[in-house]
Amino acid sequence: PNIIVTDTEGQRSEVPIAVGEILMEVLNENDFEEIEGVCGGIRSCATCHVYVKEGWLDKLSDKHEEELELLSGLSTQQTNSRLSCQIQMTDALDGLELTIAPFED
Ligand code: FES
Repeated sequence: PNIIVTDTEGQRSEVPIAVGEILMEVLNENDFEEIEGVCGGIRSCATCHVYVKEGWLDKLSDKHEEELELLSGLSTQQTNSRLSCQIQMTDALDGLELTIAPFED
């Protein structure tokens, strides 16, 4: 499977990913520097913030309470915001499109 990633400069690329992998980790390994993943995926840093394209949101697992809280504290939050450390790849997510959210000021 692949995901389609648009970086903060608007550059679009296709990124190969295996089922079971965590999106934050794969983005990190693929040198998307905006995705720092400082907390290592425990829902406490929000440096893995992405915008998921409409139409894909329903296919993702529900947000944990801590994810909701963390996202709601961001000035860059949108209705399609997710923490990429909370998204695990599945077959159903093949072709998922996301945009990396800008850093907060
Ligand atoms: Fe820290 Fe996702 S990596 S919240």
